[in-house]
Amino acid sequence: MSEDKASQTKERAHRQYPAAMVNITNRCTLRCKHCFIYRDGNPNNPKGEMSTSLMVSKLSELQRRHDIQNMLWMGGEPLLRPDVLHEGTKLFPRNIVTTNGTKDLIDLPNCTYVISVDGPPEYNDSIRGKGSFNRIMRTLSRVPEQFKPIVMCQCCVTAKNEDLLEELVESLKLTRAQGMTFTFYVPPKDDESGLSWGSLERRDRAVREVMSLKQVYPEFIWNKGRSLELMLSPNSKSVTDNCPSMKLVMPLYLEGDEFVRPYCCYGNDVDCDLCGAWVVFYLAAKLEEGTFADIELA
Ligand SMILES: C[S@@+](CC[C@H](N)C(=O)[O-])C[C@H]1O[C@@H](n2cnc3c(N)ncnc32)[C@H](O)[C@@H]1O
Ligand code: SF4
Ligand code: SF4
Repeated sequence: MSEDKASQTKERAHRQYPAAMVNITNRCTLRCKHCFIYRDGNPNNPKGEMSTSLMVSKLSELQRRHDIQNMLWMGGEPLLRPDVLHEGTKLFPRNIVTTNGTKDLIDLPNCTYVISVDGPPEYNDSIRGKGSFNRIMRTLSRVPEQFKPIVMCQCCVTAKNEDLLEELVESLKLTRAQGMTFTFYVPPKDDESGLSWGSLERRDRAVREVMSLKQVYPEFIWNKGRSLELMLSPNSKSVTDNCPSMKLVMPLYLEGDEFVRPYCCYGNDVDCDLCGAWVVFYLAAKLEEGTFADIELA
């Protein structure tokens, strides 16, 4: 290894990360068409997963070493490992659990739940699987009255649902969700899914649609206005060329008894130029405000 690379690796091993994302299981109750986790070349083997006690002790050590304040709990489906969530969320001041809504939510400390739902029933089910929209609505309807965590939803915008977003907002407003964000599809290189716009200019229409929805539903849509502006084609590349998520969010994927770090939170094979990840543009807007020191993802 060159001296430069060795010192970069050493620096990454010890520096502070305000946030991390961790896949606590590679198992899932769904197989969504857009999912970056199950792409070839990413650590995603569902067999032989780390025990709960080992996982919690590794996360505790990482929290201390990097002073991690925000933990994003993901998978696969993180609610398939409730023991990890019960113990692990005690380690971090702020927790975000992103779930597919097929399992009941559990009460956790200092926690926000993000329930993924990708459009009105027909579109959602074409991506997330038959019956998944109704399962999400059922989970939302079963959130107890006195539930402590914040409950919100997230929709992944693609070239195929960009005209269906208002219909989704209208139906989510009738549920227990307190708000929602839109994230935009992160394609692999040479994407052939048909979900990508293929260029930033073609994506602009969808970004502008979310901007206008935010005018209509300012309380319910939680994307920051500036984050959306930064996502427009004249600005986006200057953000992704210098990706703030790479610097501030440590990705931890599960590989048997180890956590491994892929290229970024979205795995190894990503097309950064077309990345529309909510977290990237949220952090870019926060950095512009100079509020790096108090980055709070939950
Ligand atoms: C990988 S999932 C893991 C947690 C859980 N299984 C779920 O679906 O919410 C985390 C989030 O990433 C989103 N996602 C998956 N693939 C994506 C992609 N290619 N681009 C942008 N977001 C994506 C999902 O819709 C979900 O909101
Ligand atoms: S539910 Fe989440 S982890 Fe599972 S396939 Fe869908 S996006 Fe991926
Ligand atoms: S794909 Fe997105 S999150 Fe990953 S490094 Fe590229 S710009 Fe950052």
